[in-house]
Amino acid sequence: MNQKINIKQPNNIEIYIKREDLLHPYISGNKFRKLKYNVQKAIEIGSELLITFGGAYSNHILATAAAGKKYGIATLGVIRGEELESKVSENPTLSLANEFGMQFLFVSREVYSKKEEASFIEDLIKKYKKSYILPEGGTNDLAIKGCEEILIEEDASFDYVCCAVGTGGTISGIINTSKEHQKIIGFSALKGDFLSDVIRKFVSKSNWYINNEYHFGGYGKVTDELITFLNNFYNSTSIPLDPIYTGKMVYGIFDMIQKNKFPENSKILLIHTGGLQGIKGINKVRLKKNKELLKYV
Ligand SMILES: Cc1ncc(COP(=O)(O)O)c(C=O)c1O
Repeated sequence: MNQKINIKQPNNIEIYIKREDLLHPYISGNKFRKLKYNVQKAIEIGSELLITFGGAYSNHILATAAAGKKYGIATLGVIRGEELESKVSENPTLSLANEFGMQFLFVSREVYSKKEEASFIEDLIKKYKKSYILPEGGTNDLAIKGCEEILIEEDASFDYVCCAVGTGGTISGIINTSKEHQKIIGFSALKGDFLSDVIRKFVSKSNWYINNEYHFGGYGKVTDELITFLNNFYNSTSIPLDPIYTGKMVYGIFDMIQKNKFPENSKILLIHTGGLQGIKGINKVRLKKNKELLKYV
């Protein structure tokens, strides 16, 4: 569902947001799209365990756990940080994933960094027979196929389509179904400019680019200014945004509009890719530091 953002913009620019966050409370936004064909395939080939990877507040970990429960397949999360093993009950993401039946394998940051190496994957497959492995962030060819269903025919009327980028899977699907006259802008949630090369492997069109200016210091980092912006945005629109992905994108778009980066009369579609479950964890950290909290959870 596309919802108009009723905040007046200069130059007669109109902004709409596609509420993918409303698809499911936990298998939300791009996670729903990324898991759809992967879970189907896992069931089809008789897999008995979905294994995936993530950090302390990972949207993908929780979504995989919820999908496993919904479709009757066991799940295992390989979690970055051994210290989290004794803190599951204090961590809203991991404790809910655990309630959905997910088991965990906590590993050090060093071991976690090797998770894509062939020997690491082979060991997992040896240990967990009949398992189906999903990469961190859930991006693979079937995930991109799912993300190709985000844009529908009626979205062709938009001049710009914008989404947050982490591993590049979501934007790749969006680019693949976009129209030639549309420009797709990805807002990187990570510092660095390696994402364009990753995305080029999944797409053949060239009507897109990655904006690296709104990561707010890097992955998972938030500033007081961003939190205030998101609270104000919620007060004006009743639309909740997460501060790690979509919040940074929406801040970026508003800033770019103010700086006249879009032509007059542009119609912009933002993709709300979910991630709202992570807010509780962010608020917990900010509460300890006596900082402004996100007021919608
Ligand atoms: C809420 C949210 N939005 C956007 C993204 C970015 O998606 P991708 O990793 O496919 O680039 C993620 C990460 O998967 C996410 O959790």
